[in-house]
Amino acid sequence: MLELLGKGDWVITVQKSKNDNINILNVRGLKKYFPIQKGFLKRTVGYTKAVDGVNFFIKKGETLGLVGESGSGKTTIGRCIVRLYEPTEGSVEFCTNGEMKNLLKLDKQEMKKVRRHFQMLFQDPYSSLNPRMRIGNIITEPLKAHGIGTYKEQIEQAKELLVKVGLDEDQLNRYPHEFSGGQRQRIGIARALSINPEFVICDEPVSALDVSVQAQVLNLLSDLQDEFNLSYLFIAHDLSVVEYISDRIMAMYLGKIVEISPSEEMYQNPKHPYTEALLGSISKHEPGSSRRIILHGSIPDPSNPPSGCVFHTRCRYARDICKEVVPKLEAVKGISGAFVACHRSDELSLKGCI
Ligand SMILES: Nc1ncnc2c1ncn2[C@@H]1O[C@H](COP(=O)(O)OP(=O)(O)OP(=O)(O)O)[C@@H](O)[C@H]1O
Ligand SMILES: [Mg+2]
Repeated sequence: MLELLGKGDWVITVQKSKNDNINILNVRGLKKYFPIQKGFLKRTVGYTKAVDGVNFFIKKGETLGLVGESGSGKTTIGRCIVRLYEPTEGSVEFCTNGEMKNLLKLDKQEMKKVRRHFQMLFQDPYSSLNPRMRIGNIITEPLKAHGIGTYKEQIEQAKELLVKVGLDEDQLNRYPHEFSGGQRQRIGIARALSINPEFVICDEPVSALDVSVQAQVLNLLSDLQDEFNLSYLFIAHDLSVVEYISDRIMAMYLGKIVEISPSEEMYQNPKHPYTEALLGSISKHEPGSSRRIILHGSIPDPSNPPSGCVFHTRCRYARDICKEVVPKLEAVKGISGAFVACHRSDELSLKGCI
């Protein structure tokens, strides 16, 4: 792919090795509390603890899946990383040009410079594309915003990207409504890749698409990742989607990470009762069967989370300690890269998918 280093300087990007084995992202102690305001004077009467002390990293070229029920805080994590939300606490270190920078400490100008290294891809390809803009302008908009390239170079880049994502370069002059949902998501991907990012946060990018189209878009994302050594934080409800694309998976419940494990390990050998419950609805022997999460009861109010382990009110294995003591996310003995926050993980033998 062609990469623009500065105005007018086109160079061919050298393919980086996939296993640089360095972290592109370190998230530490991340919290996002939304104030709950009431009354005429909008007094703050409490806080929604959407993200409540989260730690994780993503390696270069890696995909980290993020799963959890609706309202668990997945989108909030994504938005805090790119500072669409200002986090309440914590640090978000991002590696750019070999240097780790805490994004939360950058001023507007510095943040703008770093922003070209990451992008966000959203669930609904229609509402994230301006209906009154032609595809060419949609794709080149980020290049214009960052002042990269001449007009002619931007159009060339847009054409090349359209082909990369499986569309025709002469579709440049069309409008979003002339495309199907899957094609629109391809356009969203072309736009996200236009500034040659290293890291993409994919927030349920295929959830709104038909199952058959989902696979095509996932394949595309996977191919583009290999080609450009992209790192993904891949948010999804649908566990089958995350399994397909992720190297490691993180399960989130009520603002906290309850388990992080290598993808296969998590599927075959979950360590947290919540992960087991998430996997409960997956049946690999019934293709096309619903893989939606089946969990009894609803997620508690994040402004008033349960004491101890936040999952204890819905956990079939809960004991007294679970109501009283907050479990720490700790390394699982004997399984490299697996971490769980459960008092009983050593003694439980949970059911995964075979
Ligand atoms: N801008 C906001 N203002 C106030 N509360 C918010 C805001 N955005 C999210 N929340 C609250 O934070 C919590 C986490 O929301 P979030 O959207 O991150 O969850 P999610 O895991 O992405 O859910 P879904 O799967 O439905 O997309 C929820 O209780 C939500 O109501
Ligand atoms: Mg969300």
